Amino acid sequence: MMEPIPVRVARRARSWWLGWVMAALVTALSPAIAAQPPKPVFQDTLAQRVQVCFACHGEQGRAGPDGYYPRIAGKPAGYLYNQLRHFQTGKRRHNLMTRLVANLSDAYLMEIAQYFSALDLPYAAPPAPRVAAAALERGRQLALQGDMQLRVPACTACHGEQLTGRLPATPGLLGLSSDYLNAQLGAWQAGARAAHAPDCMAQVVQRLQPGDMAAVSSWLAAQPVPLRATAAPMALAPPLKCGAHQPPPVAQAAQTEAKPVPVSGGRYLAVLGNCQGCHTRPGAPPFSGGLGIPTPFGTVYSSNLTPAASGLALWSADDFWRAMHHGQSRGGRWLNPAFPYTNFRNITRADSDALYAFFKGLEPVEAVPPPHALRWPFNTQLALQAWRRLYLPTAEPKPQPAPPSAAEAQRQRGAYLVQGLGHCSVCHMRRNALGGNADMLSLAGGFIAGPSWYAPSLLDPVDGGVQNRPAAEVGQLLQSGRGGADRTSGPMAEVVRHSLQQWTVQDIDAMVAYLQSLPKVAAENGISQAPPRRVLDSGAALYDKYCADCHGTQGQGVRGADGNWAYPPLRGNRTVLQSSPVNLLQTVLYGGFSPSTTGNPRPFGMPPYMLTMSEQEIADVLSYLRAAWGHQAAPASALDVQRLRNGGAR
Ligand code: HEC
Ligand code: HEC
Ligand code: HEC
Ligand code: HEC
Ligand code: HEC
Repeated sequence: MMEPIPVRVARRARSWWLGWVMAALVTALSPAIAAQPPKPVFQDTLAQRVQVCFACHGEQGRAGPDGYYPRIAGKPAGYLYNQLRHFQTGKRRHNLMTRLVANLSDAYLMEIAQYFSALDLPYAAPPAPRVAAAALERGRQLALQGDMQLRVPACTACHGEQLTGRLPATPGLLGLSSDYLNAQLGAWQAGARAAHAPDCMAQVVQRLQPGDMAAVSSWLAAQPVPLRATAAPMALAPPLKCGAHQPPPVAQAAQTEAKPVPVSGGRYLAVLGNCQGCHTRPGAPPFSGGLGIPTPFGTVYSSNLTPAASGLALWSADDFWRAMHHGQSRGGRWLNPAFPYTNFRNITRADSDALYAFFKGLEPVEAVPPPHALRWPFNTQLALQAWRRLYLPTAEPKPQPAPPSAAEAQRQRGAYLVQGLGHCSVCHMRRNALGGNADMLSLAGGFIAGPSWYAPSLLDPVDGGVQNRPAAEVGQLLQSGRGGADRTSGPMAEVVRHSLQQWTVQDIDAMVAYLQSLPKVAAENGISQAPPRRVLDSGAALYDKYCADCHGTQGQGVRGADGNWAYPPLRGNRTVLQSSPVNLLQTVLYGGFSPSTTGNPRPFGMPPYMLTMSEQEIADVLSYLRAAWGHQAAPASALDVQRLRNGGAR
């Protein structure tokens, strides 16, 4: 099923290049033919931004080459939008899809949905069915008449007379492969796919008999698609309410992301601390807890912070302060340090009280988080006590001296943010086998648990890139997710999307001023010998084939219409040069977009290569990148790729 996918788009872009060069040559040689406009090399369009989708969904989204990847072109925009949101919230599960769209805003998702929906493209002729005539007949019956006895309505009742869908959000069922259709029905049955309530499909599949799914999928896949295959509008009185869920009116396509509503008081402090990021399960009400946080010792589930009986209903401001400052729950239980109280203990009592008031004012949501799933002995209070003795400072945080100057006041504010609510060290410090560090506020860089990422040293100008750059560019990177040639990805993109983009400009500036004032310390860096000739040759050829169309033959990148990098340069790129290749590997294996933010509302996408290239090929192209254009970073090995693909810790 997961056959390698050719990146067809890249080929097409190459022919534009060629066409342009040819046109330029011809123009130079013979003015007579110059009337023909040269084809553009790079267009700053939505189609360019979502090229990454074509890699799997086929050219212009008209279905992928191997029969599984579904067509997305021409489906109702409301349906496509719902699916993209469902991948984000876990209602629908597919690791690559989820990672691709994880950090895109609703407005951008809607724009993408409308783009694909508006494509009216011809369909290929259906393949000949591979099942017995009796099965096909059963499939036809189900689709057109349903089965009264099983109480299964005809598929046409909801999917339209011609099975070409209904507006606003019921898809057509024609032009899809039987494998894909079958997998979707199976996913509903297994609880791996859900839709907005009422989820009629969940009921339909429960009533089908063994063999029915395959029968109806085979029949559907064998039908030709009528010429005008667009979705019919919903009848005035829909047979059932499902598929009527109107997507929220998210701007008429987002040229600019709506500015996040400025927040203040306790709500703003909750933004600074990204409490929502850890205390919300995907798709669940904000702050209702239950999100699993992976640690090397097992999974810890965040608590419900709403004022419900299963949350903070009975908590006093003192209880709350004890949790934030001492890491102790109401009732005396020591809290797991996956809750970053080693940072939060540095906040003032006034800020703790403001946060408390904010949470007490929320709508209560009853939700009991699952019990932690930790290995012995890490699941014991004794272990937590031992851990606290080792890593929790006994001294109270020192009050800051009165600042002698405005610059010092700004620096102090920055320190308060970085060490306290911002909890940057949670990821940006190296942890020992017990998950601790002699200095729990260290920013010297480290690996983070769960999916493997390297959070670079914020003390090293090359590794973290904070010190030797204009403060404005660092501020832009941290607030918008894109600054100069750098962009944030993975866990850092989430920090930007859920927290930093809503910080005030003053607080961003204060944070950058503080970070830039820290002493520079070189991170351990594996300068290495160049990889063998064979690897370089193979890597260079692969780079040319898969990457050069977007990133340039010399890794020089491409700028968009607004002057910002559309395709970032890879020459001198910090992600390419970092001491550990894991972030680079993550990017190339899984692809992705920078977060949609006010400063970068419609990012360009990077395609995933885990299905296109072998582990050895990925290692070769990365080793080449790390040695090309004067780079001197250690090569990557196929083993590195394999470990990451299998979710290994490093
Ligand atoms: C790595 C391959 C890959 C890439 C790249 C990819 N998709 Fe998908 N997409 C899939 C697969 C596989 C499915 C089917 C998932 C399932 O089985 O539920 C899917 C499903 C979807 C669906 C649901 C379709 C339906 O009919 O229900 C939508 C919508 C979608 N993708 C949109 C996109 C968009 C937009 C992009 C680009 C931002 C994109 N995809 C990029 C592999 C990919
Ligand atoms: C009562 C209304 C209703 C009936 C009857 C119904 N469907 Fe659906 N179906 C829906 C809705 C609504 C969706 C969109 C769900 C979503 O948003 O994910 C859907 C989605 C689907 C999908 C996913 C399509 C894709 O591109 O991923 C498949 C497959 C499907 N239906 C098959 C069937 C078949 C086969 C039948 C007949 C046996 C049937 N449906 C009958 C309402 C219905
Ligand atoms: C990195 C993830 C993370 C962040 C960020 C985070 N928390 Fe938590 N929090 C947790 C986890 C996990 C627990 C559960 C710890 C346990 O049960 O041992 C928890 C527990 C708590 C508790 C104790 C609740 C109880 O029932 O004992 C409070 C209070 C709390 N968090 C408040 C906050 C506030 C306020 C913020 C934002 C300023 C915040 N948290 C940010 C992960 C996080
Ligand atoms: C949840 C973990 C996590 C937290 C919390 C976190 N970071 Fe990061 N950070 C990362 C990872 C992983 C990377 C590497 C990925 C990347 O380059 O975007 C990174 C990268 C960076 C970079 C390099 C940017 C780039 O992409 O080139 C800077 C600067 C940075 N973080 C600053 C901060 C600051 C300041 C804070 C606190 C406000 C912070 N981080 C909090 C995980 C985190
Ligand atoms: C369709 C165009 C396209 C192709 C083809 C492509 N990329 Fe990218 N790449 C992008 C975009 C767009 C980004 C920026 C994504 C973002 O904003 O997070 C990116 C980002 C990257 C980054 C991260 C840079 C950083 O600053 O963090 C690396 C590394 C990278 N690409 C390597 C590659 C390699 C290696 C290949 C070939 C195997 C490749 N790319 C193919 C579009 C492309």
